[in-house]
Amino acid sequence: MSILRAEDVVKTYEREGASSVEALRGVTLSVTAGEFVAVTGASGSGKSTLLTVLSGLDLPNSGSIHIDGTEVTRAREQDLAGLRNQKIGFVFQDFHLVPSLTAWENVAFPAELAGRAEARQQARVLLERVGLGERLASFPHQLSGGEKQRVALCRAVINRPALLFADEPTGNLDTKNGEEVIRLLLELRAESGSTLLLVTHSDSLAGLADRVLVMSDGRIL
Ligand SMILES: Nc1ncnc2c1ncn2[C@@H]1O[C@H](COP(=O)(O)OP(=O)(O)OP(=O)(O)O)[C@@H](O)[C@H]1O
Ligand SMILES: [Mg+2]
Repeated sequence: MSILRAEDVVKTYEREGASSVEALRGVTLSVTAGEFVAVTGASGSGKSTLLTVLSGLDLPNSGSIHIDGTEVTRAREQDLAGLRNQKIGFVFQDFHLVPSLTAWENVAFPAELAGRAEARQQARVLLERVGLGERLASFPHQLSGGEKQRVALCRAVINRPALLFADEPTGNLDTKNGEEVIRLLLELRAESGSTLLLVTHSDSLAGLADRVLVMSDGRIL
């Protein structure tokens, strides 16, 4: 069963005083529930744009995207927010943690938003799992890159999302921290049974995926 379906998706960025950029030039793709898909391709080929649009963080100019039966491209903003909260987890290259919230609060936030009473407790269990049990009260600026990404990982999986998107999650980490984050990502993903779309430049990591998509100039080859 397909959890994600994109048809002829086009995304163009308008730039002030310059020609527009066609970041996605008609992308069609279908992802099966539980699948691990790696996305590779040269810098500027449209990988980040693809993830942003597929996850409903930004709208395409044309084409359609269905996530678990909902047409993202026609959903009202309110429904889209609910869909993102309950069905989607996102891990970014530069973490995107809320600076004014502690590690514990950052992780609990999506679960609290979903109205789950056990949010705080679950956030603590997750942070302990990734080795940050002693850093619950730390703010993002007090954490190392690897620690911040582990917090972001916990936040992404706390609602057991059907779909997990990760855009070069180890891009800002050294090899050792990067490997640890990937190990945890794959472990947590297996536990939540999430479908995973992962952008990576690493051939060895792409080799672990069920399928590899190669992007070039706004298209999937
Ligand atoms: N907000 C934006 N405004 C204008 N152009 C953009 C914007 N975001 C991306 N682009 C352009 O769209 C194209 C695709 O960018 P994208 O970030 O999706 O590439 P990428 O494959 O993720 O690259 P990288 O491997 O360097 O992260 C590029 O030409 C880029 O310059
Ligand atoms: Mg990118």
